[in-house]
Amino acid sequence: MSAIHVRRLRLGAALVLLTYVILHFSNHALGIVSLDAMAAGRWWFLALWRSVPGTLALYGAIVVHGVLALWLLYQRRTLRMPAWEATQYALGLALPALLVAHVVSTRIAWWRLGADDPYTRIVLALWVLSPDYGVRQTLTLVLAWIHACIGVHFWLRFRPWYAGARPWLFAIALLLPTLALLGFVAAGREVSALARTPGWSEAVLRAAKAPTGAEAARLVAIRETFLTTYLLALLAVLLARGVRRIQEWRRAVRITYPSGRVVAVPVGFTILDASRTADIPHASVCGGRGRCSTCRVRIARGLGQLPPASEAERRVLARVGAAPDVRLACQTRPNHDVAVDPLLAPSVAPADAFATDVRQGHEQELAVLFADLRGFTRMAEHKLPYDVVFFLNRYFEAVGTAITSAGGVTNQFTGDGVMALFGIETGPATGSRQALAAARAMVAGVEALSAELAGDLPAPMRIGIGIHTGPAVVGRMGWGESFYLTAVGDTVHVAARLEQATKDYRAELVLSEDVARHAAVDLSAFPRHDLELHNRAGRIGVRVITEVAHLPAG
Ligand code: FES
Repeated sequence: MSAIHVRRLRLGAALVLLTYVILHFSNHALGIVSLDAMAAGRWWFLALWRSVPGTLALYGAIVVHGVLALWLLYQRRTLRMPAWEATQYALGLALPALLVAHVVSTRIAWWRLGADDPYTRIVLALWVLSPDYGVRQTLTLVLAWIHACIGVHFWLRFRPWYAGARPWLFAIALLLPTLALLGFVAAGREVSALARTPGWSEAVLRAAKAPTGAEAARLVAIRETFLTTYLLALLAVLLARGVRRIQEWRRAVRITYPSGRVVAVPVGFTILDASRTADIPHASVCGGRGRCSTCRVRIARGLGQLPPASEAERRVLARVGAAPDVRLACQTRPNHDVAVDPLLAPSVAPADAFATDVRQGHEQELAVLFADLRGFTRMAEHKLPYDVVFFLNRYFEAVGTAITSAGGVTNQFTGDGVMALFGIETGPATGSRQALAAARAMVAGVEALSAELAGDLPAPMRIGIGIHTGPAVVGRMGWGESFYLTAVGDTVHVAARLEQATKDYRAELVLSEDVARHAAVDLSAFPRHDLELHNRAGRIGVRVITEVAHLPAG
């Protein structure tokens, strides 16, 4: 079974269990209303989970989730992991042992002995007859919920919508168990009041056919058998890990890091395992599950001898546009010495997962646009600073919206100038067309803003735009918190110079013929000039567009 299938199976099983827990908690919460409301909710709950499909889904999910957890424990080469992951692992491994008593006294007792488990009987047992068991059960439910919440958080956090939904999900994560516990407490108080009536408790136990002494002993035996089996399985996995470790250490590989540090690990360890074993900080936002790409490394030496990437790894690498010498550290198990260069900072955020692989910079063709507001400095001299800030923010909003709507990336806002990049993902042809569309929308946006603020402006605003398409080095550049996507190179200088030229030609747009060629638009109707650029050999052919509104529709 491939890694993708294992991952899907595990996710499916986890979602079934999550649904079960949510419905179970919701049923408990009805205790805030009354015991009768809980009983009514339970009818629907059992209709689902004690039906044949419900039973198959629930117990199938428990088996799949449990077996895969043990399998993944075996698969891991090192138990060093981030705190959140260790917490989820530890809770996940402890839960079967903690939950077995409850499952045996409800579902198994019903199945094997015909004992009913209405809320009155269960709450009587947990609240009145064995309150210490009730406390343990409450704690177990909270731990199960924490385990589920960690899983959901680390599953969803790469989704673009997750940041907006997180406060709501967090509120639900707090509210649901709180309401469930309040429901349990309310039911407990109601049951303990009823239990003061002589004979009520005995009648409840009789009506539910609660297990008698011999039957209870049988249930204890079932519970002990399960516990022993589970602990033996866990022990077997740990033993198998130990045996494998001894065998693997017979052949070690050496992984060299950019600092020159060399880490020796057994064959079978991933590169991420090696980093963790040696306490080398290494980004791994998804916890080494091959989902986020943040652990990716450039293989500086030994690429040809690495086992080929799995389909799942290839997919993730393709998604970030990784170069051929890049591999996922969490999925790559070297069988020869290699030298690696982690590409993302260890402190990388989830938002950087799947960010295009441009941090290290690479050359590509794209369209670069520069724009500048005419006469802004003079106009700002007669305005209060607050007015200038207000005005600039409205202006940046107008041009920024035009750029992003056309598919570009706003890159720099300096003074009243803006730089934008087009075609990073789509190539120079689409980028050039997008840049022309953005120029049209920017001019229209500035005109609309100018009309809106006419009373405050000495004259209508005018914008000058320069566009050039050509090769540039694109990458995330900066320092500390201030990393941003930008481009450097001759193409950027040319675009900036063309924007300057709009002043000389009194035009709204000056663009290079390379833009027209890539965008496949006929600009022969517009004046052509050969521009000589400072510090650049040769001349560049440009078209001068006095009014952008006259550009042919793209
Ligand atoms: S740690 Fe997420 S893909 Fe490797």
